[in-house]
Amino acid sequence: MASDDTVLRSDPLADPIMEIGFGVFKASLVCQAIELGIFDKIEVLNKKVTAVGFANNYGYKPEVTERILDALVCYGLLNKSNSQDEPEYSNSKTVQKYLLKSDQPCLNSTLLGIRLLSQFVDKLDTVIKQGSNNTVYERLLDGSEDGRDFTNSKLERQEIKTDQNQNPVAERKKTNKTDSSAHSFMVQMDSLLRPAVHAITVAFDVAGHKTLLDLGGNSGYLAFEFIKTYPQLKAIVLDRPHTIQLAKKYQPAHTKSKVEFIEGDFFDNKKFPEVDLMMLSHIIHNWDEDKLDILLTKTYQSLKPGGTLLVAEKLLNEDKIGPEITILLDVTMTTVCNGRERTLSEYQKLLGRYGFQNIEGKRIAGVNYFDVIIARKPDI
Ligand SMILES: C[S@@+](CC[C@H](N)C(=O)[O-])C[C@H]1O[C@@H](n2cnc3c(N)ncnc32)[C@H](O)[C@@H]1O
Repeated sequence: MASDDTVLRSDPLADPIMEIGFGVFKASLVCQAIELGIFDKIEVLNKKVTAVGFANNYGYKPEVTERILDALVCYGLLNKSNSQDEPEYSNSKTVQKYLLKSDQPCLNSTLLGIRLLSQFVDKLDTVIKQGSNNTVYERLLDGSEDGRDFTNSKLERQEIKTDQNQNPVAERKKTNKTDSSAHSFMVQMDSLLRPAVHAITVAFDVAGHKTLLDLGGNSGYLAFEFIKTYPQLKAIVLDRPHTIQLAKKYQPAHTKSKVEFIEGDFFDNKKFPEVDLMMLSHIIHNWDEDKLDILLTKTYQSLKPGGTLLVAEKLLNEDKIGPEITILLDVTMTTVCNGRERTLSEYQKLLGRYGFQNIEGKRIAGVNYFDVIIARKPDI
């Protein structure tokens, strides 16, 4: 044993590499726990279980079960009682709010979806040589990527196919897109929003506005939160026809008098409805400059003079070497589409080109995928 005043330490230069490696282990372990349904099973078994009782109930090996449960305690996902003899495990508050199956979007689909997306990042070696393309994103949107379900507890890693140029492509299913895979994409998007959804609505006070148009508003989850925060507001959610049909099917009854769903296309030559408040949440980062030119021209034209545009995207630091989550999103964008993340000054430049003024940004603290940028159309 070292004497008390000796501090033993491994080489700090190795720390960043070791931490990155452990992050992969940690994510695999938690994804496996989700796929095994451990958290829901604990909840079903009266919320408190011993390792042996839990293992016996599900036909698991007790000694392995105990080690997995202890690892989940170490990650703050389970609590463990102090009893030395037969400690009991229960779900932490984090798990109860975000990892159990419920009618709210849960983060299971975020974690499993990140694992799916990381397979596209595994193809960076071809993307770095060939450049990115939109095929993967369009197929993911379509629900025609190879049928794996973002929310499915049996999500498995599979090899990603490449096209003749060695670009990664998601396989198109032989059958038409199904409601279930398109619905999975919808659930995945909502799960990304959930931890930050309220912060997005209050980042800038939009109480003076009458009608919100959420472009690419998907399930309507963000629009529902806006009408809750601003009771005077009505909302229109515009999205692709198949998404709108699905969103209508799942629309909560209490939102029906205030949120209307309409079919539309960012890139056709039809105008958007004229409103005084517009939202683009996780839309700008998906498209190249040519597509953005069509979308932002239409957006500006449809906004009433004096109106407001809100953009929810994660901001890059001005030096572009952080924050880490934005960097990861930016790399993901390059592997699945022609999009990218931007700094606030890049958003100011981009939106300023279309006539927007007074462009400001607010960061949302915590671990999440969103910051908020506000831009105004001059009152003439
Ligand atoms: C990345 S998701 C973002 C969804 C939502 N705004 C959010 O923040 O979670 C992109 C959304 O844009 C929609 N979308 C993609 N291309 C579109 C197009 N050409 N016209 C209208 N909506 C489109 C998709 O269906 C999807 O709902």
